[in-house]
Amino acid sequence: MNRDHLKREWLELSEPWIKEAQEGRNPTRNGLLDKPMLEACGNVKGLKILDCGCGEGRFCRILVDKGAEYVFGLDLCEPMIEAAKELQSGSDTYRVADVQNLSFIEDGTFDLIVSYLNQCDLPDFDANNREVFRVLRSGGRFIVANLHPMRSAVGQWHRTDNGEKQHVILDRYFDEGERCWKMMGVEFTNFHRSLSTYTTGFIQAGFRIDAITEPTITREKLKLYPELDDELRVPNFIIYALRKP
Ligand SMILES: C[S@@+](CC[C@H](N)C(=O)[O-])C[C@H]1O[C@@H](n2cnc3c(N)ncnc32)[C@H](O)[C@@H]1O
Repeated sequence: MNRDHLKREWLELSEPWIKEAQEGRNPTRNGLLDKPMLEACGNVKGLKILDCGCGEGRFCRILVDKGAEYVFGLDLCEPMIEAAKELQSGSDTYRVADVQNLSFIEDGTFDLIVSYLNQCDLPDFDANNREVFRVLRSGGRFIVANLHPMRSAVGQWHRTDNGEKQHVILDRYFDEGERCWKMMGVEFTNFHRSLSTYTTGFIQAGFRIDAITEPTITREKLKLYPELDDELRVPNFIIYALRKP
């Protein structure tokens, strides 16, 4: 799958994605991932932050609201960046860029870098790791939310004849590479890698792993977002908290 094709898939997804992010319920973000992502980021007051694959800038705006000094959002797709710019406050800026090459950013620029469901989109996540490591200051942190490798392998539920979910099928775990999904009516490509490939990649890039979290949902949140009932049963997502020594 070449990079132009991958970009075209996201360009096609941009319009429904922006609408859902700005007007929808966003269960995965609001109900599940935002809280542990913000906990992993810690106190962001006064920090210079880079968001790799920022989409339409939703998490950048949250970080600004939490007191970040400056947030720089990068995304491959022009419509995402245009939508982010429309809502920018002054402490956040945006640019179209491929996060596998950050050559326009100087070494040691950022205190904190986030990647919120972006590494699973990258053919070369090692390149992203190397670039993030370079543009992070010493002692700075890299917070990565990703599809859980148990779920990016083969993602189907085994169901009874009447459609009830019985259990998740896990197969092709060690067969790393492209996986084709359908989201918002659009076919798009993700990259599956095992847990050991991810953790080894982080360590080889020079990061120390501070924590690995598998977010699940509270009973209270489940009342608000009943569509997240899977989350009590299987790990759909994972958050890596990394540090540049
Ligand atoms: C799953 S969305 C996540 C968006 C945002 N972080 C959020 O959580 O709402 C992935 C984003 O990564 C972007 N993307 C995909 N490949 C990229 C690349 N190589 N460089 C930069 N952005 C990329 C897509 O355009 C899309 O906006």
